[in-house]
Amino acid sequence: MALTAIHTDLASPKKCPDKGNARGMETAALLVVVWLATIAAHLFTAFGAGSGFSTDDAMRLVEVRDLLAGQSWFDLTQYRLDPPVGVVMHWSRLIDLPLALLIRAGEVVLPTAMAERVATVVTAVLRGIHEAISEYQVTYPEYQAAKAWMIEVGETGEWPLFLDVWVEHVVEEVATEHRHGSKGTIEGPYYVPGSPTIGSAGSVPMRPNESGTPLVWTGRVTSTDGTALDGATIELWHADNDGLYSQFAPGIPEWNLRGTFAIGADGRFEIHTVRPAPYQIPTDGACGQLIAAAGWHAWRPAHIHVKVSAPGHELLTAQLYFPGDEHNDDDIASAVKPELVLDPKAAADGQTVAYDFVLDPVRS
Ligand SMILES: [Fe+2]
Repeated sequence: MALTAIHTDLASPKKCPDKGNARGMETAALLVVVWLATIAAHLFTAFGAGSGFSTDDAMRLVEVRDLLAGQSWFDLTQYRLDPPVGVVMHWSRLIDLPLALLIRAGEVVLPTAMAERVATVVTAVLRGIHEAISEYQVTYPEYQAAKAWMIEVGETGEWPLFLDVWVEHVVEEVATEHRHGSKGTIEGPYYVPGSPTIGSAGSVPMRPNESGTPLVWTGRVTSTDGTALDGATIELWHADNDGLYSQFAPGIPEWNLRGTFAIGADGRFEIHTVRPAPYQIPTDGACGQLIAAAGWHAWRPAHIHVKVSAPGHELLTAQLYFPGDEHNDDDIASAVKPELVLDPKAAADGQTVAYDFVLDPVRS
């Protein structure tokens, strides 16, 4: 019942009705961009002789850039080679033309560099798909089944779920690989901004007699040089003892187990909450069909989500896990990292845990 409710809620987002039109326009713009990028990708692939974005493709892109920058249609010299005389290229402008037109069209909604980047990344994505089809000799029935499944993912609103579970963890790793402070991990689909503000010490909102082991978490928010970060905030959210999130499962108070802690000059915080339970991602939709077909499980280990921010520092998004959870090693979302596993201690009433956050200054 609860999973169905979660799925239904994911499929019908209704928390920000005032943003509906803006999101619709963003979606339409994105579709246009993806459409254009896909066409460009096919062209890249075509002139790359099926080998993806090769050095020849890169040279072609340089040639197109020069054409768009004003070089004559009839001047086939590439002046970046053997300057200042340049080298006369033997490639036809007829191939440059559609690519140039697509980049110009893409510039209607994106700057040139971004339009080129969209085309380049989508080319690589398509190349990966093409290689998998060839390597595993994918059949037409399998192709049709995959197409029908993708359509269902869209119609049931499960693209956020799919992407957050199976794709986001790599994006997060790329985005944070330069950092020296605390490790982060994926945000996941259950974050809701605007949770009630609490001081630097206190309890997250919870029901009377909230089920679960009481947990007191103490720590400090500092910069990488050890300086306490006055004005930092910790947004915290997690599932309850049944593995359910407020605002995504019925019958739970709006901000249950969600709160924003405002940190003072000493950087210290003390959070009172309860230990969350592991949960399965929704299995009653298209993602569940994929999990069943692949013979996977749908479990995420128990975890507490946080977003830690401070002026002049990069936002840290993380999840904290508990030792001994059977799914720490095979999390369906691949989000667990050793640095994110807590070390709770038994206390008179529940457990205590100490865990600090170190934020990286914003790069100049
Ligand atoms: Fe979660």
